[in-house]
Amino acid sequence: MIPQEYIQEVVARNDITDVIGSYVQLRHRGRTHTGLCPFHSEKTPSFVVYPETQSYYCFGCGAGGDVITFIRTMNNLGYVEAVKFLAARAGMPLPDEDDKAGKLRSRILEINKQAARFFYQCLNANNEQASAARAYWRRRGLSDGTIRRFGLGWAPDDFRSTLNWLRERGFNEEELLASGLVKRSEKGNLYNIFRGRVMTPIFDLRGNVIAFGGRVLGDEKPKYINSPETPVYKKSRAMFALNLAKKSPSRRYILCEGYMDVISLHQAGFDTAVAACGTALTGEQVKLLENYADEVVLCYDSDEAGQKATARSLELFSHSPIKVSVLTVTGAKDPDEFIKKFGKNRFEMLLNGTHNALEYKLGKLKDNYDLATDAGRVGYIQDAIRLLTGHITPTEREVYAGRLAQETNVSKASIQSQLDAALRQADRREDRRRQKELLNQGTAAQIKVPYSLGGEKALGIANAEQQLLAAMLKNADFIPLVRSRIQPDKLLLPDMQQACQAVFNCYDRGVTAELATLAPEVTPETLSLLSAILARNHDVAITRQDVEMYLDRIEQSFPKSAQAAQMSPEELEAYIRSLRDKKMKK
Ligand code: GTP
Ligand code: MN
Repeated sequence: MIPQEYIQEVVARNDITDVIGSYVQLRHRGRTHTGLCPFHSEKTPSFVVYPETQSYYCFGCGAGGDVITFIRTMNNLGYVEAVKFLAARAGMPLPDEDDKAGKLRSRILEINKQAARFFYQCLNANNEQASAARAYWRRRGLSDGTIRRFGLGWAPDDFRSTLNWLRERGFNEEELLASGLVKRSEKGNLYNIFRGRVMTPIFDLRGNVIAFGGRVLGDEKPKYINSPETPVYKKSRAMFALNLAKKSPSRRYILCEGYMDVISLHQAGFDTAVAACGTALTGEQVKLLENYADEVVLCYDSDEAGQKATARSLELFSHSPIKVSVLTVTGAKDPDEFIKKFGKNRFEMLLNGTHNALEYKLGKLKDNYDLATDAGRVGYIQDAIRLLTGHITPTEREVYAGRLAQETNVSKASIQSQLDAALRQADRREDRRRQKELLNQGTAAQIKVPYSLGGEKALGIANAEQQLLAAMLKNADFIPLVRSRIQPDKLLLPDMQQACQAVFNCYDRGVTAELATLAPEVTPETLSLLSAILARNHDVAITRQDVEMYLDRIEQSFPKSAQAAQMSPEELEAYIRSLRDKKMKK
């Protein structure tokens, strides 16, 4: 039996897109990847990989599953063999008990556990050092319960006592050095790295101690020493206190900078506080949080470094489904100090009135300008309007435009007209981007259009035709609209002519147009192309505006009087060439 955790780790370390990508040529399309199915023979891609769910599905043959299923089917392996295959691919040691790297890892975890026990004992010992350490935690406002809950401790102020305690428990040199708690001096003697520091253990999600942070009692430098990376501790993946936070029913997390902030917040009842461990937040940590949090409140230090970190983290979260907001503590340097100064109720109030990301960015912008001057107000308005053209709801836009007017003492009407102009400009940019994307999508879908038919231009038209079919199949409301403007034989490509005619026929008979009902009227090749088109659009919302754009594009390319389909191939070619020449002259 392979342990469940091991399998999860194997799956986590083998991104499905990477794995499948080494067998199948995949093309990136929106949030999915598409390619030719390796399990049946096809000419148009109907095989789709979904990174979000780490799964794949072939719309042609119905094969589907996760990364392990893929490897099993692809390489004809049993379940265990497939897991081992992927483990090896990710450079993971095999799950065998006698495996060397795995054994060392479990020895290091054991060392850390013993060390944490030692530090806790030292904190509670009956000597001067211990009472100074206890007084320190007390001064920082921590109760005995909190100290126990977090397993806080004290590392005695000497080079050997931690080392000796561990040696007495049977750990050898190699293991001690690998744990990062012990180093070798130039003279060749071993010594422990944590000395005269209060200790905070860092746990993984399963409750193993994976590292420590140690802080001096006073102002000496360095303030903190953290464990180095070891076989059990990867800083970019660890999250301090996530082992506790994950037990909370709340999915609104508070992300802080320091261990002390997290500990204080938990003590005050905010049990979803977590921190990145001694590094800037990473994408891996954001991914990890996605498993537990729907919302994250960034609550960094109020100094400049904290604000810079906030901006960086906002950027990271902008690619995540997690809703993010920012809480800035004022009148205190960090959340820990804030709670001590003003109490948890005030913090709760801040938490409930957090600024969303847009408000935060607007506030930051405002700091750059002196609103007492005309130039300052003009500059602020220009920058703010640029922010307001981003992806926000019309209501939000309305609210912030109103607020902007108030702040700058400029009429709402004037702000509104500037905003409208900026929105129109952004729309035009978006249109151009979409047009270009259409072309690229056409290229990506390997639409086979003879170059003589007009190269990229025809590719764009062919793609518009495909999208039009997708639109009608996804939403029957579009069928009458398309029908009012297009006759199937106006389309450039025979398979789309056939499909379009079949859709109209279904519509006339009052039958839902879908792959199954189209099947009798189109060739298998056309049907397979349609499933690929649909899969490509599976999570794309095609709007009425899009449909109008496709229709425009198709209509523009064909003369209204002389239907292209009635031209001889030579005439068609000449016609499209003339379109191209016209474009080049522009
Ligand atoms: P105090 O309230 O002063 O105890 O610290 P804090 O928890 O508020 O930490 P601070 O905001 O000063 O720093 C945030 C985090 O950065 C800490 O929790 C540590 O992980 C890390 N850090 C701070 N100072 C040092 C240092 O001198 N060396 C290292 N390696 N890390 C540090
Ligand atoms: Mn602090």
